[in-house]
Amino acid sequence: MTRILTVVGARPQFIKAAPVSRALDRAGNEEIVVHTGQHYDTAMSDVFFARLGIRDPKHHLGIGSAGHGAQTGRMLEGLERVIVAECPDAVLVYGDTNSTLAGALAAVKLHVPVAHIEAGLRSFNRRMPEEINRVLTDHVSSMLFAPTDAAVVNLRNEGIVENVVRTGDVMYDVATLFRSEIGVEAAQIAARFRVEPKHYVFLTLHRAENSDDPVRWSGIMRAIRQISEEIGPVLWPVHPRVRALAADVESPHVRLLDPQPYAETQALVMNARLVLTDSGGLQKEAAFHSVPCVTLRDETEWVELIDAGVNRLAGADTATIVRLAHEARWPKRGISGQLYGNGNTSDDIVKAIGRLMETAQ
Ligand code: UD1
Repeated sequence: MTRILTVVGARPQFIKAAPVSRALDRAGNEEIVVHTGQHYDTAMSDVFFARLGIRDPKHHLGIGSAGHGAQTGRMLEGLERVIVAECPDAVLVYGDTNSTLAGALAAVKLHVPVAHIEAGLRSFNRRMPEEINRVLTDHVSSMLFAPTDAAVVNLRNEGIVENVVRTGDVMYDVATLFRSEIGVEAAQIAARFRVEPKHYVFLTLHRAENSDDPVRWSGIMRAIRQISEEIGPVLWPVHPRVRALAADVESPHVRLLDPQPYAETQALVMNARLVLTDSGGLQKEAAFHSVPCVTLRDETEWVELIDAGVNRLAGADTATIVRLAHEARWPKRGISGQLYGNGNTSDDIVKAIGRLMETAQ
């Protein structure tokens, strides 16, 4: 039995941890969950634990919001204390947030092996805090679970070849797990939001690279207004970090919503004509549900979706965003079935952790 300490803190990590926790249980491992408190609003955190059946955190660090240095520093301090007290065999971290980096750094300095799920993703844009978190986390990890071929190549190009395992994507596992359940509710949910299936646009936008740059932000806002008039109503569940900024664009056609739970988000994606987003997770979820996506960034880590023609990069230029939104169609050939695994990635990862831990001993 392996004793795994899982570090989560931000919304996408709660979603990713859900299937992996189940897989850890199935394989008879012991899991201790630590919540850093990076996301703390009920709508950003608690509702995900409830709906996805995630194990209650044994430790809640309650770090909350702060600048990058202060937030990551406080997490490091808290996580070090927890790791020393719990003596895990390995620390499991997800993705690219400040919670990921803090978990990885705290563990490696205590000589505890780090397992990184979503290893090897790169935007090659070092102005993104997420890119720094990814690169640093990968370089201190001793088990690297890369969700795509591109991720494996990125790691190799940085000299990381040992203990790299090409897996699928655990978000696809979650989507598979909940697809039928949510599918049944999807039409009702869309009705609750007073939208007609396939006649509205689903938007999320919160990345610092957009919200902290007034020129990019206003370019995107102009596009959203135009799209809402020319294509259909825009539904936007607003991340708390951009609540004040988003208020300006609200209109009968651009409807601002509170952050939505997992099922509601998936249902609204499934029924959308188009997804507009700067989130990594949403780009994939749109593809899981065969909905075309226009990404409001200059680059993406999920390059295979661009290659497949189901996602297009629009940056922040108004005319480009509007044009790509008009052009967006789900191509007949769709995406290859196994692009992100077969829905059993979490079990594959847990098996690989067991194997790698054994060979390390
Ligand atoms: C973080 C991740 C980002 C991920 C996103 C998912 C980093 C560097 N970034 O960004 O990669 O895509 O989570 O949502 O870790 N806030 C609240 N309530 C909350 C959470 C946040 O009000 O529950 C507000 C606060 O004003 C806070 C701001 O959002 O200052 C930013 O939160 P933070 O967790 O630092 O980063 P995110 O923008 O959420």
